[in-house]
Amino acid sequence: MLHFIDGLANQAHPRDELIEGLLKPAAQISPKFFYDDLGSRLFDAITELPEYYPTRTEAAIYRQEARSMAQMLPRQPIVLDLGAGNCSKGEALFEWLKPAAYVAVDISLGHLKPNLTALHSRHPQLPKLGWGLDFSKPFNLDAGVQDWLTRHQLEGHPWMVFYPGSSIGNFSPTDALNLLERIRHLCTSNSHQGPIHSQKGGGLLIGVDNVKPLAVLESAYNDALGVTAAFNRNLLLHVNRLLGSDFDLDGWAHFAKFDEAHARIEMHLESLVPQTVRWSGGSRHFVKHERIHTENSYKWTPEAFVDLLQSTGFSAPMRWTDPQHWFNVYWAPC
Ligand code: AVJ
Repeated sequence: MLHFIDGLANQAHPRDELIEGLLKPAAQISPKFFYDDLGSRLFDAITELPEYYPTRTEAAIYRQEARSMAQMLPRQPIVLDLGAGNCSKGEALFEWLKPAAYVAVDISLGHLKPNLTALHSRHPQLPKLGWGLDFSKPFNLDAGVQDWLTRHQLEGHPWMVFYPGSSIGNFSPTDALNLLERIRHLCTSNSHQGPIHSQKGGGLLIGVDNVKPLAVLESAYNDALGVTAAFNRNLLLHVNRLLGSDFDLDGWAHFAKFDEAHARIEMHLESLVPQTVRWSGGSRHFVKHERIHTENSYKWTPEAFVDLLQSTGFSAPMRWTDPQHWFNVYWAPC
């Protein structure tokens, strides 16, 4: 009932992607590289910070609205949890959603394994698949996943893609559109065949952070304890391992700011001194105060996000929110 697939082994080594980003005139590193084992744990700590409202606001929406959601969502879905991490957001739905199976996808298989194994002991009957995958790149349900579905007789169950936490915010509007298109393809793929003809088909349950007052946004990414700073700077330790580079953490400071024009939080690492970073085959010089762009976290108003969903081909979505309208959860049938 518990199985793992390492899809990361079949994907390209991130070396070329990292070097390309570091050599751009405005250096950048993709936020997916935050999530080594330590980075995933630092992110879990962020979700408990008083300033970081998204996780607890979203969790409260699921608690408050479970009945109304249960009426809209398909019966016995296969839940595909994108960026499952510690699996706690997925698990919180099980009681009312009654999934037929749980597929936890994450870029850090090292973090996913112990968490999904712990979940297994609490839900031993539920078929579970842990799938290490970088889903920012195009992906398929490869043979390993198809085999697993067949073995557990899951053909015909609708897919419910679960993409909580406003992780979609890491993607530019164009990249978000492409990812949503791939998700829509996936959730139309399994529901036309097999024994269960659910009246309700598959779709996407997605949590998205809203635009809100600047001070609230910026303090969520500049917490007093400095956990977000540690999360950001840990990226360089991860890159040193992946690339064999020699980033010296003493020379780098956390920087986060809301960019109103793009409706996004930007995180950067700022060079505190002039310095040259080397790796085998290359190097990059940074002047004092030069920055590496490490993350965008787009905030979406409901109007803009509903447009995005519909231009991707999803049917008209349902939306639930919290009393302050800080965060939105959408159910978009595919
Ligand atoms: C996991 C991408 C949703 O953008 O809020 C938290 C990551 N970065 N603090 C976010 C993050 C800094 C988080 N997402």
